[in-house]
Amino acid sequence: MLRTLGLDRAEDEDLCLDCHADNVPVERRAKGFQISDGVGCEACHGGAVNWLGRHISGEADHAANLASGLVPK
Ligand code: HEC
Ligand code: HEC
Repeated sequence: MLRTLGLDRAEDEDLCLDCHADNVPVERRAKGFQISDGVGCEACHGGAVNWLGRHISGEADHAANLASGLVPK
């Protein structure tokens, strides 16, 4: 595919990463995010940088997580 499209490295191409990974903007990626994990929770539930910690610890309620960017789906 890369040769046909004249591209270099799939792991740097938004074209490929938009479907094959959670290609959320860098500033919205939570701690521990690795693009090489492929499609994960953030693909559907949104970039987690502002809500993952509080969501896991239970410090924030659902409304607060939604206000911080959690996409309920
Ligand atoms: C519109 C979404 C989309 C885009 C964009 C896309 N892919 Fe895919 N890709 C898929 C899906 C869905 C499959 C699985 C198809 C299947 O199993 O029949 C797939 C399968 C593949 C596979 C086969 C994986 C396997 O284990 O058999 C490769 C390799 C691949 N894609 C590479 C790429 C590369 C390189 C790019 C960028 C140039 C790219 N894809 C862009 C959706 C996409
Ligand atoms: C392909 C999209 C997708 C991915 C990926 C995904 N989810 Fe979901 N998630 C949904 C949808 C859609 C719903 C709503 C389902 C419903 O209403 O029945 C949902 C619902 C949920 C709920 C229930 C929310 C509520 O208010 O009851 C939780 C918890 C959840 N997801 C966690 C996760 C976690 C953790 C991951 C990663 C391991 C994940 N999801 C990955 C689409 C996704």
